[in-house]
Amino acid sequence: MKKKMISALLSAVMATALLTGCQDAADSGAAEDATVVDTAFANGKKVGVSMPTKELQRWNQDGSNMESELKAAGYEVDLQYASSDIQTQQNQVKEMISEGCDVLVIAAIDGSSLGEGLDMAKNAGIPVIAYDRLLMDSDAVSYYATFDNYMVGTVQGTYIKDALDLDNAKGPFNLEMTAGDPGDNNAGFFFNGAYDVLKPYIEEGKLNVVSGRTSFEECATPGWMAETAQARAEEILASCYADGTDVDVWLCSNDSTALGVENALAANYSGKYPIITGQDCDIENTKNMIAGKQSMSVFKDTRTLARRVVRMVGQILSSQPVDVNDTATYNNNVITVPSYLCEPVFADINNYRELLIDSGYYTEDQLK
Ligand code: BGC
Repeated sequence: MKKKMISALLSAVMATALLTGCQDAADSGAAEDATVVDTAFANGKKVGVSMPTKELQRWNQDGSNMESELKAAGYEVDLQYASSDIQTQQNQVKEMISEGCDVLVIAAIDGSSLGEGLDMAKNAGIPVIAYDRLLMDSDAVSYYATFDNYMVGTVQGTYIKDALDLDNAKGPFNLEMTAGDPGDNNAGFFFNGAYDVLKPYIEEGKLNVVSGRTSFEECATPGWMAETAQARAEEILASCYADGTDVDVWLCSNDSTALGVENALAANYSGKYPIITGQDCDIENTKNMIAGKQSMSVFKDTRTLARRVVRMVGQILSSQPVDVNDTATYNNNVITVPSYLCEPVFADINNYRELLIDSGYYTEDQLK
């Protein structure tokens, strides 16, 4: 069973690599030569790093990894968090530009909200790297670095398919789905990646979405907030599962939404505990994975992404060709942004220790 799952995941990974034109899916070597510029070159160069919020765990890690990697490479860093407030992020970006940064790295709260700042950057000749989330509706975006977002969804969908043995089991199984923030371009990729795997089984009736909510819009979670996902899950449990019907599986696009669903189940549900997916390997979710309350997550090592972006910054500022491995997938409604997609990794109770503790991502104590 385990072997089968690994091989299915592997073929999903390979298929997506082919689909996205990914030439270097393994992201090998990024760690070793991430800082292509020497300290002398970087000296005096300032990088503005705009992060969406400290409220969701991963951005703290992304911000601090970016800051330490950039500083180690010799750059000055202006790191700002925008408290999930679009206006604050707009102001912070404009300030970074007027205070004279040489490159901007932006993880947007809402991908379509930074047009004015991006225009300012373009006029000032400041290259912009979209960090993890694509910046939409603008031709001022120079590069995009992210994890392969469609592949994240494929890994989640394939996990469900294998865990329920959908090709052989009789079913039907009850499925609910919780997706991400409609303002985040990634959210659709995650949802579609998973849905494309599950769709045939939904269509043949082997997977039954009892709430009837199957579109991204019906499943979305504004702001990716756990509380919002929890409220929606409570409403679904009350209206569709209060009569003792079991929910067999709950697809959650990421860990903050999975946490909301897990909280809703703990408070309002006593049936068979469902399979639950996630993404990010947040601390709370990894603890839940260890406790059997979440089945899997997708690990996106933020250290890898930070190194990749520092490498991009160095290549841009030293006028070298910038490494990208996807020039087809990420159209932001104005241009197709040359992208570097890092590879997301499947995580569960069996491999979390190696991935997260042995690699130094978390200490053992953080997961207690
Ligand atoms: C990221 C995910 C994250 C989500 C909420 C997305 O843009 O790609 O890793 O879970 O935002 O923070």
